[in-house]
Amino acid sequence: MGVRKIKTAVIGSGMISSIYIRNLSRMFSVIDLDAVCARRREAAEARAKEFGIPRALTLDEAAADPEIELVVNLTAPDAHYEVIRRMLLAGKHVYTEKMFTTDLEKSRELVALAAEKGLYLGVAPDTVLGASIQTGRYLIDTGIIGEVTSVQACINRNQTLNSEFFRFLRGEGGTLPYDVGVYYVGALVALLGSVERISAFGNPAPVHEPQVAFLNEGEEPWQIPGINVTAASLRFACGAVGSVLFDGNTIGQSQHALTVYGTRGILKLGDPDRFGDPVTLILPENEPVQMPLTHGFDGKNYLGEPASFDHYGHRGIGVAELAWALRRGRPHARLSGEYGLHCQEILQGMTAAAETGEVFEVQSRCEIKGLRPGYYSSMFGGNMRGDAEASLME
Ligand SMILES: NC(=O)c1ccc[n+]([C@@H]2O[C@H](COP(=O)([O-])OP(=O)(O)OC[C@H]3O[C@@H](n4cnc5c(N)ncnc54)[C@H](O)[C@@H]3O)[C@@H](O)[C@H]2O)c1
Repeated sequence: MGVRKIKTAVIGSGMISSIYIRNLSRMFSVIDLDAVCARRREAAEARAKEFGIPRALTLDEAAADPEIELVVNLTAPDAHYEVIRRMLLAGKHVYTEKMFTTDLEKSRELVALAAEKGLYLGVAPDTVLGASIQTGRYLIDTGIIGEVTSVQACINRNQTLNSEFFRFLRGEGGTLPYDVGVYYVGALVALLGSVERISAFGNPAPVHEPQVAFLNEGEEPWQIPGINVTAASLRFACGAVGSVLFDGNTIGQSQHALTVYGTRGILKLGDPDRFGDPVTLILPENEPVQMPLTHGFDGKNYLGEPASFDHYGHRGIGVAELAWALRRGRPHARLSGEYGLHCQEILQGMTAAAETGEVFEVQSRCEIKGLRPGYYSSMFGGNMRGDAEASLME
């Protein structure tokens, strides 16, 4: 007998909703994507029709619907707290896109509310369950690079230019550390565990004069609130130290780095905003070697999928992992509220340390259980869907 599927609704019909709806409606046997919700019914209807999803609902209707067990929150960050709270109060399990909320206290409140009501609350980014980061984690756990001594994580963008197109970036949570740095922070936590202490320096975003005039005619200049450039030092509970550089005040051409140093070797990982970037192992007396990926969810489509997964890859694995935890009655051991809180507290700690000049002591802790290796998203040379979903069950 097959698994009893979890009736799920997606909330939000913006840009990222397409990949979620596409993946959740066809990729996981545990998910029954039943409805698309939006503030305006017409917006929900249009998205539902586009992807053949049975129902289009308002948020009130979704909250009141007894059949919907799980909601996936894809609204803009400044709406997250209200939407998540409302759905938890309505008795729904929730998975939310990043950032968790724009205020750490509010995120703590939501984690407590979910616990009080016995509901699962999951938080993106789920790229950390993708093939690259999971392969990196597996290799670290085998001891092939010895004891981890340090890590380096860097990403750059022109965040104010990006905020011309993605308007939600102009508000709280729109700085590069929160918007993109969170993928790096999530990866560091998934690879090395909890961060205990942070020191940092930082700079704000500039006041931005609209550049793409034909799109922004008549718009006033704006400034993304918060710290848009951060150079931070981290101490992990495992004893390793980390060096982080997030620069949102430069150009967009990405010079990303994610490198883990150990007593016996070095691992270079790709862009943690992607699912299947190469993982390179460097050992003494050898040329660097690109390792085979030991896990599925590499962001590639298999022959027969109607469209390529493009940059957004396997988004939705985190939802399926939560759904399996729910169906199996097992603890939510991966992208839990604690994971969301820990990532957010690390980002807030970087800002606080930069603003005060003092070391920030991180209160929260989080350990993410690795996925079992040996399961792949495709089989027969990419011709058929593989069994990677099985790695989300335990
Ligand atoms: N665009 C990306 O590249 C990307 C990638 C990964 C994650 N995300 C995250 O996904 C989320 C959505 O991003 P997006 O790019 O789709 O944004 P978007 O602005 O295109 O869409 C946001 C959606 O949220 C809806 N919304 C806003 N406030 C709401 C409210 N109070 N109640 C109900 N609906 C509300 C809007 O109507 C819209 O449908 C954000 O949290 C973002 O950080 C975006």
